[in-house]
Amino acid sequence: MNTFLYPSDLGNLSQALAEAAEIKRDRYRHQSLGHNKTALLIFFNNSLRTRLSTQKAAINLGMNVMVLDINQGAWKLETERGVVMDGDKSEHLLEAIPVMSSYCDIIGVRTFAHLDNREADYSESILRQFIEHSGKPVFSMESATVHPLQALADLITIEQYKKTERPKVVMTWAPHPKALPQAVPNSFAQWMLAADVDFIYTCPKGYELDPQFVGDLQPEYDQQKAMAGADFVYAKNWSCPGVTCPADYGKVLSKDMSWMVDTDHMALTNNAYFMHCLPVRRNMIVSDDVIEAPTSLVIPEAANREISATVVLKRMLESL
Ligand code: CP
Repeated sequence: MNTFLYPSDLGNLSQALAEAAEIKRDRYRHQSLGHNKTALLIFFNNSLRTRLSTQKAAINLGMNVMVLDINQGAWKLETERGVVMDGDKSEHLLEAIPVMSSYCDIIGVRTFAHLDNREADYSESILRQFIEHSGKPVFSMESATVHPLQALADLITIEQYKKTERPKVVMTWAPHPKALPQAVPNSFAQWMLAADVDFIYTCPKGYELDPQFVGDLQPEYDQQKAMAGADFVYAKNWSCPGVTCPADYGKVLSKDMSWMVDTDHMALTNNAYFMHCLPVRRNMIVSDDVIEAPTSLVIPEAANREISATVVLKRMLESL
């Protein structure tokens, strides 16, 4: 496997889930695979879970790990070709990528959407430059439009906790004070649609996700109707994806607090598990009661990030 952005990169999802279950039973089982191999994890943005879980995954596989925070200690990088570099950016990504790749065998990249130019964000321009110019396997540790390590961890969690063969999984938009990228909901929807679950999502008008990730699936605009009978409720905020309203791309269109997931919402479900990728703003996205309930999976979900990253790095090491 040379790139990891989409479920199709993993091939058969059932097989990937079986691999994840095997790794969960013994996470050091493939420790010889990474001997004398180095993972470079490059962060353009902050992270707690991705940073730690991906490092741990590399350690599980016997790899060496290097972590670079571009904004703390590295030269400021220009990412656009053709720019006259007379500002505060000292190095161009087109030199930095081959230099960084000369020190490692596999590269992970974390880079968020800027939310001011839909075309630039949806072209995944920074991640694509790494794929094109590094000559090394590259995986997204959340990029402009996708967060596949999170979505795989979410799927592993649903597989672990599901009580029926084909559970009803509902992703609900929830309010947030700031504009957030669409990477998590894009990937969650894309992976759920590829998995053996009954998936719908619910959001206010204007928050419809890009067909690239949801196909022709339309949202249910009535949140209460969507949540009825759910086995899993996945809450997430995202800014306007600009599908029905291109001029509003990246904007906050609603802060309607009636969308916050609280005990009244959860009472509509089939005693559903609550999920969120974290970090989460309590009493904006979800009430204290719901996130602290025994049915909250936010911690096991985060723990499964180690498993999803181990599966992905294992696949990449096997392809070297
Ligand atoms: N869920 C997630 O990716 O968390 P971090 O942003 O802390 O890595």
